[in-house]
Amino acid sequence: MEYYLPIKNLHMTAVGLSILFFVIRAYWSITGSALLQHRVVRIVPHIVDSVLLICGVILAMMIGPNQPWILTKIILLVFYIGVGTIAIKRGRTPTTRLVAALVGVAIFIYIVGVAIRHDSASWFA
Ligand code: HEM
Repeated sequence: MEYYLPIKNLHMTAVGLSILFFVIRAYWSITGSALLQHRVVRIVPHIVDSVLLICGVILAMMIGPNQPWILTKIILLVFYIGVGTIAIKRGRTPTTRLVAALVGVAIFIYIVGVAIRHDSASWFA
């Protein structure tokens, strides 16, 4: 378990960067900013999110797979990504994008609660 803490720190750093990029890109999407099409803006979030997921999976393997709250995180991550594509790409109107962005942030806050409490009920546990 020598590498557990560094991987966990990397996971949490990616978590912070992920929500930061999410909010910035959602804002640019809602306001119709051309910055959204910038190459760096299109690529970096995917790298960050890949690091987040890969580190999460490694940590999960290190502590053993039979944790219901880890499954909850994986499922909610899929929703976070799905809602994110509506907020940043697929949403037809700015209002749709705004609502999707807010739902995405809410899901994210819920996932952080699941991570900290080690419980699928998150902040309500
Ligand atoms: C948006 C998605 C995610 C967020 C916001 C998130 C957030 C966090 C946070 C804040 C921690 C630190 C908890 C603490 O120290 O108390 C953490 C730890 C952890 N995460 Fe994630 N995570 C996400 C996705 C994932 C995924 C997909 C997996 C598994 C495949 C995963 C597995 C883990 C594991 C195993 C730990 C270590 C728990 C511990 O040592 O206490 N995470 N996560």
